Amino acid sequence: SDEGKMYVGVDYYPEHWPEERVDQDIKLMKEAGFNLVRMAEFAWVKMEPSEGVYDFGWLDKVIDKFQQQGIKVILGTPTAVMPAWLARKYPAAMATNDDGSQIDWGGRKNNCFSDGNYRRLSERIADEMSEHFANHPNVIGWQTDNELSGPICHCQRCLANFQDWLKAKYGTLDSLNAAWGNHFWGLTLHSWQEVTFPDCEGESDWGKIANPSLCLDWKRFHTALQVDFQRDQVKVIRKNCPEDFITHNMMGLHNNVDYYKLAEDLDFVSWDNYPVWNKPEIPYGSSMAADVMRGLKQKNFWIMEQTAGPVGWGEFARNTRPGELRKICYQQLAHGADAQVWFRWRTSTAGREQYWHGLLGHDGKAGRRYEEAAQVAREYDKLSEYLTETTVKSKVAILYDYENIWATQNQPGFAGNDVQKAISRYYNALFRKGINVDFLHPDYDFSGYDLVLAPGLHIVSKELAANIEAFVEAGGVFATEYRAAVKTPTNLVYDLTLPGLLREVLGIQIPEYEAMGDFTYRMEPIEPDFKSYDATMYSDWIIPEAAQTLIGYDEWHMKDYAALTRNQFGKGHAWYLGTIVDDPAFYDQLIARLLDDAEIEPEVELPAGVEASIRQDEQHQVLFLINHTENELSIKVPENKLELISDRKTNSDFQLKPFGVGVILLDD
Ligand code: GLA
Ligand code: ZN
Repeated sequence: SDEGKMYVGVDYYPEHWPEERVDQDIKLMKEAGFNLVRMAEFAWVKMEPSEGVYDFGWLDKVIDKFQQQGIKVILGTPTAVMPAWLARKYPAAMATNDDGSQIDWGGRKNNCFSDGNYRRLSERIADEMSEHFANHPNVIGWQTDNELSGPICHCQRCLANFQDWLKAKYGTLDSLNAAWGNHFWGLTLHSWQEVTFPDCEGESDWGKIANPSLCLDWKRFHTALQVDFQRDQVKVIRKNCPEDFITHNMMGLHNNVDYYKLAEDLDFVSWDNYPVWNKPEIPYGSSMAADVMRGLKQKNFWIMEQTAGPVGWGEFARNTRPGELRKICYQQLAHGADAQVWFRWRTSTAGREQYWHGLLGHDGKAGRRYEEAAQVAREYDKLSEYLTETTVKSKVAILYDYENIWATQNQPGFAGNDVQKAISRYYNALFRKGINVDFLHPDYDFSGYDLVLAPGLHIVSKELAANIEAFVEAGGVFATEYRAAVKTPTNLVYDLTLPGLLREVLGIQIPEYEAMGDFTYRMEPIEPDFKSYDATMYSDWIIPEAAQTLIGYDEWHMKDYAALTRNQFGKGHAWYLGTIVDDPAFYDQLIARLLDDAEIEPEVELPAGVEASIRQDEQHQVLFLINHTENELSIKVPENKLELISDRKTNSDFQLKPFGVGVILLDD
């Protein structure tokens, strides 16, 4: 970025306001210390008012004005909202619902990704736009489309595309039939044209009648289609603007598309963060989302849309309280956000998002939220010199992928089974301990970590099982849970006693299991340092083989079975938990034991509600402390270190104001 400065700015829509207003907006942004705006991602009809007729003049003018003030520009390709002329002339561009009806034009994200005309015109506007702005030095990068995810179209072209995609993946119908287990219900296919739209998402369980293996491929296909769509745009932008970066604004923990795949063609990932909805609470989810986003490319990311005020469409949520808007930014910075862009600059007087508030109100006046954003910009400017090369380096990894999420959504097995929730039980406990976490795709190399957690690891390939074994054998600590290794990569159930391919490394067998509906079991700690908790929702009836039982069950018929086990395997340990506990304190205990096994120690001890995260490179190690509560809190920190916002040296007690933050340079 600019002389090593971090980018801070806003999402800006000059087309929503009278032309005369631009100068004042830019002046206010400049005074706030902003150095970046994102524009144009919904302005297709303004840039191409009729087919093949382009008008970029209005945007040229605005970009020039920003340039005069040293404010850089990212442009969004405008394909998330097609112009009315396009929908009218090429009606097949509109997506088809699963009942065969077509979506009416009039909103956004309503296109079919297979339609030739829509694809051609999308690529062409990206081409024209990037060619036009290629020579503009003030345009530094591009955002493809906006929040790709849907809709899922059910037209005949999408079906034919799906059939072709399957053909490319499986080669022969025999191998497709085998991969999907089509001998069941006589579903064997004799021609690719016999593949139909699957019913994977019926409202009742009975509604989901399609084969789970087919459903998993249907989800994969849906991602592949959007990756393809995005790639058309990436190609033309790279051709026209080889110097510019390309990114996309993702949605954190949203899971309808495989973000790993969508990220492959991008230079870095961006995401949109809106944590403030209900009563103030610790925003675990925003940190987890940040770490998931960093994990997609193992690289720092940008916040492309950041909460700027009360959010909502029909009804709006609460306002950010003093200091809250600022600490939301620091939370992301601490986890690897290298830029910070508020959505949006000024609250719109028109359209569906009239109540989705920006930094400025409808009246366009710079008030409290603007001042707080300006404070963030000033502080980031100061912090830049220490942070620009740094990232989060973790000893703990969590395996995270979309296929496990999809397979479990399609067939939870027991009511309430949710992969992301399962992961968050561990993640939140690590958060409370102040331990940084990396999220990794199960295919990525995790051999360098000390502790690898894999809740929700439903699908396990032979390669993954071998990697887990090798990891533990070499001294790693691995932990997984209920329903691990049930499924093959094509969503068939293994014909093995659970935990299947992980049986040896975990040192247990699970001959039986059950969903628990509304009853619970009392867990019986065998190791004295575990407390007693209730097992809920599901239980594996675990028989330890090589493993040691740390917690068992109290019920008469469960006395022989284990709830929590630990197995020494080679130089390492593999842990397995066969149930779910409501009380987060249980996971705090469990994480403490796992960290012990892995010999990982937190940098500081944290009071409840304070978050810690470290960014580092060869030169610097920077500790962030973020108070998510509205109380003044004190924390023991290393003494005589430089706090970078205040320029003061630390005492052993560090004071954090309500929603306060501290940025401490740990270097000697
Ligand atoms: C998303 C979109 C924005 C806007 C905001 C607020 O994040 O990317 O265009 O719609 O939500 O609704
Ligand atoms: Zn379609």
